Amino acid sequence: MIILGIETSCDESGIALYDEERGLLAHRVYSQITTHAPFGGVVPELASRDHIRKLVPLVYAVLSDAACELADIDVIAYTAGPGLAGALLVGASIASGLGYALGIPVIPLHHLEGHLLSALLVNPAPTFPFNALLVSGGHTQLITVFGVGNYHLLGETVDDAVGEAFDKTAKLLGLAYPGGPELSRVAQYGRGGRFRLPRPMLNSGDYNFSFSGLKTAVVTLVKDLVLDAQTIADIAHAFQDAVVDVLVSKSINAMVATKLDQLVVVGGVGANTQLRQRFSEVGIQQRLKVFYPDVEFCTDNAAMISYACAARIKSDHIQRNLVFSVSPRWELGELASH
Ligand code: KG4
Ligand code: ZN
Repeated sequence: MIILGIETSCDESGIALYDEERGLLAHRVYSQITTHAPFGGVVPELASRDHIRKLVPLVYAVLSDAACELADIDVIAYTAGPGLAGALLVGASIASGLGYALGIPVIPLHHLEGHLLSALLVNPAPTFPFNALLVSGGHTQLITVFGVGNYHLLGETVDDAVGEAFDKTAKLLGLAYPGGPELSRVAQYGRGGRFRLPRPMLNSGDYNFSFSGLKTAVVTLVKDLVLDAQTIADIAHAFQDAVVDVLVSKSINAMVATKLDQLVVVGGVGANTQLRQRFSEVGIQQRLKVFYPDVEFCTDNAAMISYACAARIKSDHIQRNLVFSVSPRWELGELASH
């Protein structure tokens, strides 16, 4: 069975073809960076328009990459939320139109479920149950994954998501959009020890996070400084250190409390080199198996959506919608496992 995956929740247009037997056949992501860069952040209306322009050509490009034709597609999976309403509607409409034309099922998928299950694209893959640290532009959550559709939220951010904190701090430092990867790149040149930023909620005794105070600490810090290149790098280094400390420490606490030995790190911030390095070191010390998707599957992509659809079909947890809809706000806990 061949599944066409469509991802349009934010500023990346993703298309993938996944075969239940052969695995991922092909995938492409078109990033809208050049569209949004002049504005320093994502402009929702422009995102929707870019998705409209790119999605159909991407479908044909991915079909050609995989040496397939439209008639080979058996099922279409699209991201139905959470995300930007207009952007989601573009993906939903194209999925539904194509599904109607081809006479095949169209299945709405949860974006975060895509990120969670993207860990299973790794070879060797983790086995259920495992804990997941989901770190993206919109979410920061620690979740126990018992199986497909069976997710237990351990804790989450009470304010900004970690990717959002990266992006806002990068903007404060005058770094180019998209801020997260740029801040991380600049942090390599930073010197440790010059600045020390707070580790919010490090000892709160739960699995919740808070990142807005950290951003405020950077606002206060930069007020009295001349922001030359070295100072920016030193602050970026201190910021990244603080974030990584909190994420690693809370995740390890969750591993101990749940008595699980597999941790997956998923979502856009999972692409962060420093975070991956620290998790690898701590994983060895604590005898934990830490899994990360390849960097291309950490940030938004459709491979994870088509894979999540395949996993749902396999475990018989599918919802078939005749009338399509999107859910810009959608809690993972609302997903039914049956
Ligand atoms: O998962 P994702 O592509 O989209 C959402 O679902 O939100 O995550 C995007 C977020 C952005 O905030 C971006 O700045 C951050 O992930 N990000 C990074 C890195 N690459 C992407 N943050 C830190 N270091 C990176 N290397
Ligand atoms: Zn995402």
